[in-house]
Amino acid sequence: MLGFSARFVLLITLVGVCACQVFQSGECPKAQVQQNFDIKKYVGKWYEQRRFAFAFEAFQDCVTAEYTLRDDGLITVNNTGYNTLTRSYSTNMGDAASMDPNNPAKLGVKFFSGQPRGDYWVLSTDYTSYTVIWSCGTTSVGPLGHFNTELSWILTRTPEGIPESKMNQLLELMKGYGINTSKFSVTNQRSCPGRS
Ligand SMILES: *[C@@H]1O[C@H](CO)[C@@H](O)[C@H](O)[C@H]1NC(C)=O
Ligand SMILES: *[C@@H]1O[C@H](CO)[C@@H](O)[C@H](O)[C@H]1NC(C)=O
Repeated sequence: MLGFSARFVLLITLVGVCACQVFQSGECPKAQVQQNFDIKKYVGKWYEQRRFAFAFEAFQDCVTAEYTLRDDGLITVNNTGYNTLTRSYSTNMGDAASMDPNNPAKLGVKFFSGQPRGDYWVLSTDYTSYTVIWSCGTTSVGPLGHFNTELSWILTRTPEGIPESKMNQLLELMKGYGINTSKFSVTNQRSCPGRS
């Protein structure tokens, strides 16, 4: 039988290991954003190719995002998708703002007035073919450690998207930051009703 101090050490070790795992898995990865981000080159229309699955966008095909620069510096956001259950397009209008003058690629977006802006970080874009967007918020829940809510999208300038090799390069970049790219699902951009 272990003496008191040995049991104490064992207990501390187990708690330490356990807490460590909870915290590591729960903290947001440390991702870097696009340097010298230029919103003027970024605005315009994008087609969603990949997204982290979440309820808000369930059953949405043919998703597009259109960003327009406003006179007051905010960016109008038009998210439109085709709902495969109702068989109709629906649009969510919102606006985005730069949240950090030193990091212009760190935007915040909201779709309802009074709602706090959710992170919209541009991790990588070439402005003319692809953009990688990522959002992660950490919530501390006392002794249970940290939980995070992580969202991500890969958008492209054309419905056809980007070559497989380029897509893999973007996924590798994200994996390098510790982002779990297995959470991505593919957004259908084929046979979109009404799209020529
Ligand atoms: C939003 O985008 C959709 C798809 O491009 C377009 O049909 C619709 O007219 C746009 N709505 C507004 C208010 O800009
Ligand atoms: C990555 O995400 C997939 C899909 O949600 C999940 O099954 C897997 O456990 C995750 N891997 C890690 C290391 O969290």
